[in-house]
Amino acid sequence: MTEKLQPNQQMKILTPPEGVDRLHPQPGDLFKGNPVNLELLQALEGKSIVGVRDLTREAVIELCKLAAILEQFEIAPYHILDGKIVTTAFFEASTRTRLSFESAVQRLGGRILSIPEGGVTGVKKGESLQDIGQMFNAYCDLVIMRHTDTESVQQIREHLRVPLINAGNGSGEHPTQALADWYALLKWRPSLAETGPTDPEDQLRMGILGTPGSMRAVKSFLLMSLLFQSKIREVTVISEYADPFGADVTEHLEKAGIKYSVTNDIQETLPNLDVIYMNSIAFLGDSYKSLDSRYKLDKDSALKEDAVILHPLARLDELHTNLDETRHNLYFSQAHGAVFVRQALLASVFGRLDRLPEAFSKGGFQA
Ligand code: CP
Repeated sequence: MTEKLQPNQQMKILTPPEGVDRLHPQPGDLFKGNPVNLELLQALEGKSIVGVRDLTREAVIELCKLAAILEQFEIAPYHILDGKIVTTAFFEASTRTRLSFESAVQRLGGRILSIPEGGVTGVKKGESLQDIGQMFNAYCDLVIMRHTDTESVQQIREHLRVPLINAGNGSGEHPTQALADWYALLKWRPSLAETGPTDPEDQLRMGILGTPGSMRAVKSFLLMSLLFQSKIREVTVISEYADPFGADVTEHLEKAGIKYSVTNDIQETLPNLDVIYMNSIAFLGDSYKSLDSRYKLDKDSALKEDAVILHPLARLDELHTNLDETRHNLYFSQAHGAVFVRQALLASVFGRLDRLPEAFSKGGFQA
């Protein structure tokens, strides 16, 4: 029995203009003949997601498969989050994370209490995050928070009883950015979701331009990549710093047993890489600044022909706009896909997967 689903109108926006040689991975490649395991995602109901360790490899894959279906088909008629209120509490600037979360909630039929900057809350008068968390319990069903302070997650959770999604805490983590990163990678190369041994020739050589120890998006990307270690031949971090990891990331790398190295020589490293992850903003104490500023990419950089670039954005001058129209650009797919992978996460944490059309778990699609 198949269910008639309407194509997602957003797909029109994501389709590149005629004749442009831009990378545009197809979401259908991720779920065709491979139904989503909704039972596995039910385990996320009521859970807070504060770091990558709150997710398993299997959960990441199933969330990305669900996101791919949501990207392909119109979900608005099903009102998945009907009656739910989400607070987006952003004590630090954001373009993508707050807006893509709010777009995700609205498209699922939920409602938003939006705090676009901390100065409009009692923080301005000296109120503690602990007390603000206590208030959120009465006002909403889930909190999505970003803060400049790494300790903020721990502080707000002291009295918070509704689930929390960490949207970036200082130099801590940004787990849903890592989901958006891996959603883009899995659409680009669906075989990354397969289990079993991988031929070394098919394993990715991954390069990171940045400092995982102080760049939260880079850190979360690296930690999530460790869940896919059998698909990765080597991770090379290109950094001005001799130890760009920090103690806890080093411990995870050692435990995973993945081959990794650090270099400051971008010219020698770049031609070998299949995936390049870059970022420019790093947290130092309670402020942020550009790090590793001498490492820049443009269309004349010595990239492998089929190498892809990921960047969580915002970009400064480290990522030239002349790469936007090339096949190396996976960063727009990464930003666009964030809405769908966040929809998948919200539907799971809210325990509303039973409201999805039956075809989502049966795989019987007919658009
Ligand atoms: N990727 C990301 O976190 O972007 P914003 O700072 O715009 O939210």
